[in-house]
Amino acid sequence: MAKGKILVTGGLGYIGSHTVVELIGAGFSVVIADNLSNSDEGVLRRIETIAGVLPEFHQIDVCDVSALKNMPSNIDGVIHFAAYKSVSESVEFPLKYYRNNLVSLMNMLEFCAERNIKNFVFSSSCTVYGQSEQLPVTEESPFMPAWSPYGHTKQIGEAMIADFLKSTPGMRVVSLRYFNPAGAHETGLIGELPRGVPNNLMPYITQTAIGLRDKLKVYGSDYDTIDGTAVRDYIHVADLASAHVKAINFCCGMPENKVEVFNLGSGNGFSVLEVIESFNFTSGLKIPYEMVGRRAGDVEKIWADTTKAEKVLGFVPQRILDDITLTAWKWEQNYRQNIERKNS
Ligand code: WQD
Repeated sequence: MAKGKILVTGGLGYIGSHTVVELIGAGFSVVIADNLSNSDEGVLRRIETIAGVLPEFHQIDVCDVSALKNMPSNIDGVIHFAAYKSVSESVEFPLKYYRNNLVSLMNMLEFCAERNIKNFVFSSSCTVYGQSEQLPVTEESPFMPAWSPYGHTKQIGEAMIADFLKSTPGMRVVSLRYFNPAGAHETGLIGELPRGVPNNLMPYITQTAIGLRDKLKVYGSDYDTIDGTAVRDYIHVADLASAHVKAINFCCGMPENKVEVFNLGSGNGFSVLEVIESFNFTSGLKIPYEMVGRRAGDVEKIWADTTKAEKVLGFVPQRILDDITLTAWKWEQNYRQNIERKNS
């Protein structure tokens, strides 16, 4: 495929917006479908500022099949981000997660079959592994029971894709198992912007630093880890975005009726306290925090074996934890001091 037209669902969201910037930079034409449930339309203009191109945007919910009829023709591939992603929220509202994450996936697979779109990249997650007995986890590591409805939606999603491919010849799918995406674009123009109180660690830290939250709660101090706090593999969102360009290119060259899965992480595990330490170092601040009990749905520790992504996709993250905390803080400040203020 020459550089083609890619439909990006959830393209104004956190990972989606960074990926759209990378796709445009790589010469793709991008169509965004997003219902703005966890983003806003201002992101579109800021993508234009960074990438120099205003992507075609449709404000639709991909859970609504009829809305998909208005999508343009000649789409060469779909990158399907649109989903809910909070582990803790999914424990509280399981049906919200099953409905949104599974109906949207079913609709997008059917959409591809109807339009004869052969290339599909799926946002999966390291949560499919549950609490793996072996670390780091490889793509061959067995799925343990999911610890949250969110993780279960991704396990079911991957199974659904495998079954669908058996019945629908001609498609190729790449499933990307993200570890913990964090950080923001180096311009400070796009980044993670959760609605309401953040569930994820990094935006909670930056919102505490800017004064929106009193103090960070560190969930769990009795885990079997270096300092008792839970360990995750944080990957810079700009690295993750560039991996999607590699993934869609790889997908287009794959044999038909095939799924390939890749772990996308840095290969390094960091505890919550180590993330706070990095933030304090790069910002020059001191984040107030308190230790509280474990959070429902959280696993103790997980990090990626990145060998397959490196060997097969040629993907090696370029940024480290300090780049993540530095850019996340730059984004939070720019958003609060310039973007939000202008819009209010
Ligand atoms: C990280 C750590 C918390 C908030 C994410 C994504 C999910 C999936 C996996 C990709 C945990 C602790 C958090 C806070 C804290 N990724 N924490 N205080 O749960 O690993 O899930 O990665 O698809 O989509 O959301 O990420 O950022 O919520 O938590 O102590 O206020 O920080 O307990 O150990 P999680 P997270």
